[in-house]
Amino acid sequence: MSGFSSSSVGRKVIMSLSGLFLITFLLVHLGVNLTLFGGPELFNSASHFMATNLVIQVMQYVLAAGFILHIIMGINLELKNRAARPVKYVKNNPAANSGWASRNMIYTGLLILLFIILHLKDFFVEIKFGEVTSDYDLVTQLFKNPIYVIIYVFAFILLGIHLSHGFQSAFTSIGARKPKYYSCVKNLGIAYSYLIALGFSIIAIYFYFA
Ligand code: HEM
Repeated sequence: MSGFSSSSVGRKVIMSLSGLFLITFLLVHLGVNLTLFGGPELFNSASHFMATNLVIQVMQYVLAAGFILHIIMGINLELKNRAARPVKYVKNNPAANSGWASRNMIYTGLLILLFIILHLKDFFVEIKFGEVTSDYDLVTQLFKNPIYVIIYVFAFILLGIHLSHGFQSAFTSIGARKPKYYSCVKNLGIAYSYLIALGFSIIAIYFYFA
């Protein structure tokens, strides 16, 4: 396994599998957040379910491990690519080259990491260790602050850009390289990125004005 994870193919596969897991997590997270539009009762019970369900509790550890692995491997991949300059890989693999997003994965990724640290402090730590009586009130109050809305929406746009390359890169790394799959995966990735960036942003903006 250590030989596998230290080979460049191994690293890309681990990167893409952890990425695919995070892609799934974001869909579930967005789904739960959309219940905010159903009012306090619905969101608080969805949030309570997520906080108490045994399967979800176990998955939280997998999620944390997935994030950490993805970040460490991402930094590692960037450092190896820098050391191997001039970057032949980008030229030789046009399928993986989607312009600005693909060249700046490390920067969008690190900024998203900063967002996640802020976000965990705002919600996760507050709900687990603070004196929160209603998760709905916590979320909706936070989005009354325009600075937060701006920071969050900026992070969601960066996330959309990161995913617009990451999604197709994850699939091509695990084998969907043939041209007929590639255009389909690419389009699906773009649709997914818009859904995530717009879905989360609409929530923040809606509750600012609501
Ligand atoms: C409108 C946008 C968002 C809202 C309102 C929101 C809300 C929340 C809330 C209330 C929790 C605490 C859940 C609990 O412990 O019961 C949470 C946890 C979390 N959020 Fe978000 N979130 C948003 C966007 C995001 C995005 C874009 C990401 C990732 C890039 C993210 C990553 C996480 C993580 C990793 C956790 C901790 C794991 C968990 O409790 O499931 N969130 N979020």
